[in-house]
Amino acid sequence: MAARGVGMLARLPLCAQRGQVLRPTHRLLSCPGPVAADLKREEQSSRNVETGSEDKIPKKKFSEVQKERREQAQRTVLIHCPSKISEKKFLKYLSQHGPISNHFFYESFGLYAVVEFCQKESITSLQNVTRTPSMDTEAAIPFKSRFFNVKMKNPSNQTSEQPCIRCSNHTPPSSKKLSELLCYAESIDDQLNTLLKEFQLTEEDIKLRYLTCSLIEDLAAAYFQDCTVRPFGSSVNSFGKLGCDLDMFLDLGEIGKFNTNKTSGNFLMEFQVKNVSSERIATQKILSVIGECLDHFGPGCVGVQKILNARCPLVRFSHQASGFQCDLTTNNGIALKSSELLYIYGALDSRVRALVFCIRCWARAHSLTSSIPGSWITNFSLTMMVIFFLQRRSPPILPTLDYLKTLAGAEDKCIIEGHNCTFVSDLNRIKPSGNTETLESLLKEFFEYFGNFAFNKNSINIRQGREQNKPESSPLHIQNPFETSLNISKNVNQSQLQKFVDLARESAWILSQEDKDRPSPSSNRPWGLATLLLPSVVNSVSLAKKKRKKPASERIKNLLESIKSSSPENDTNTNGKRTVSTQA
Ligand code: GTP
Ligand code: MG
Repeated sequence: MAARGVGMLARLPLCAQRGQVLRPTHRLLSCPGPVAADLKREEQSSRNVETGSEDKIPKKKFSEVQKERREQAQRTVLIHCPSKISEKKFLKYLSQHGPISNHFFYESFGLYAVVEFCQKESITSLQNVTRTPSMDTEAAIPFKSRFFNVKMKNPSNQTSEQPCIRCSNHTPPSSKKLSELLCYAESIDDQLNTLLKEFQLTEEDIKLRYLTCSLIEDLAAAYFQDCTVRPFGSSVNSFGKLGCDLDMFLDLGEIGKFNTNKTSGNFLMEFQVKNVSSERIATQKILSVIGECLDHFGPGCVGVQKILNARCPLVRFSHQASGFQCDLTTNNGIALKSSELLYIYGALDSRVRALVFCIRCWARAHSLTSSIPGSWITNFSLTMMVIFFLQRRSPPILPTLDYLKTLAGAEDKCIIEGHNCTFVSDLNRIKPSGNTETLESLLKEFFEYFGNFAFNKNSINIRQGREQNKPESSPLHIQNPFETSLNISKNVNQSQLQKFVDLARESAWILSQEDKDRPSPSSNRPWGLATLLLPSVVNSVSLAKKKRKKPASERIKNLLESIKSSSPENDTNTNGKRTVSTQA
């Protein structure tokens, strides 16, 4: 689900832009000291590796990236600052507790600093000199967290000669800005890459996501000592757009597992526990208590909703300081594995992410996806469709899941709830594709392929990379790659599917006219992707071409149908894992 964006003060530069578009000056992290410089270099390369954009560097495993980022987050604090703070004095003050390896500021209803210390111990030292605020009319619930508030003891002598704090930006460009950027691009390939650069999560945004999970983990650890809270979904699978929701997975680790081989000797030690009648009830109870905890004691956690009767129970809340809309689940290991699989696909070929971002933005622009639950296609389903399409190219751009399973080593073996989730984790074992198609041609072909796909009889299946007969009658059938008897798009109704097909056909037609219509760069007229992302253009082309727009009564009927299928009883669905859709 789309999270509220955080304030915009500066934007990252576009590499492949022509000079004409004026871009605000770029700022990055200010990192004192040599350690910081190393970390900065490391970060730069890890970003390339994470996004798969640098072919020559060995690519990191998903688990390695997660481990590094988690460790980084554990050394980090979040501080609400006065807007007139002196950056230099603030950093000097904090360095009393130990060297700082990295920091950045951002705005979200106030100014915040994310400060990463070189050592974890610095945080304990900072906590030891931090007090619980005293209030006149309200009472504070004391809670020693890594989320602080800093006040200036003597504001007047701290602000004078200070330059403005430069903030990192976590918001995507406005449609006007995007349209300008796309118009100035040199080719459709260039446009797709521009879209990707503008919408992908920034380094700072990723850090903030891991930090938010880490702060929630501190709270959950009060109940479940060795638990971890990990991000999954688009925050980590490399397909996240700025503003996407933060999906979190509460992993109870060893305590949650029934490990029989743990102790040697003549005795077997077990914890005394409470029993409930099913795993589902256990999950509901755990989430219920964590939900209460977030609501009562979680600094900055607001709007906590416990959605425990969904097929995959969850706690939804807003983390005010980061601006993220968060969905916390537990007992959802398969979703974490899906995130790893998508990460692998995203890293294998640089065209994958560009195409997925483009299709996600296109679908959003035409209201094919929505931030409210209903019979709309989800971003997760769209990503599966792009992967499947890329498996169908000749030669294929992406391997099938079955092939990735054959490359798996012993360490990759993974069975979750009886489902075989084994596939290779080392990206460097997968041979790159010999396919050299351009993004422009792939985009056109994507629309043509799905504009003519036999949805009435065929199912999409990335495990085998070929169409299969549909096992059931849902309009759109996309096999869940791990729980293969499930359809991840069971919620999609016929009219939404038809809308997708119509728009795909119209978009293919618009792209086929492009060569004839391309305006000169100076004319400022939308072309290529800019035309596709403007709903009015596609609609008017469609109107002129077909003159068969549905009557208002039919559109209202479809809307009602969509609302009906998003009602609570339909939330407890029988398809994939998620019942409360969180698309953006
Ligand atoms: P956005 O949040 O829309 O950017 O994409 P997302 O991939 O994060 O989707 P979402 O937040 O809806 O779901 C988070 C993750 O849950 C996905 O990435 C999947 O791993 C998993 N998931 C979502 N929907 C389904 C589903 O229908 N079936 C299964 N098995 N997993 C799902
Ligand atoms: Mg998500």
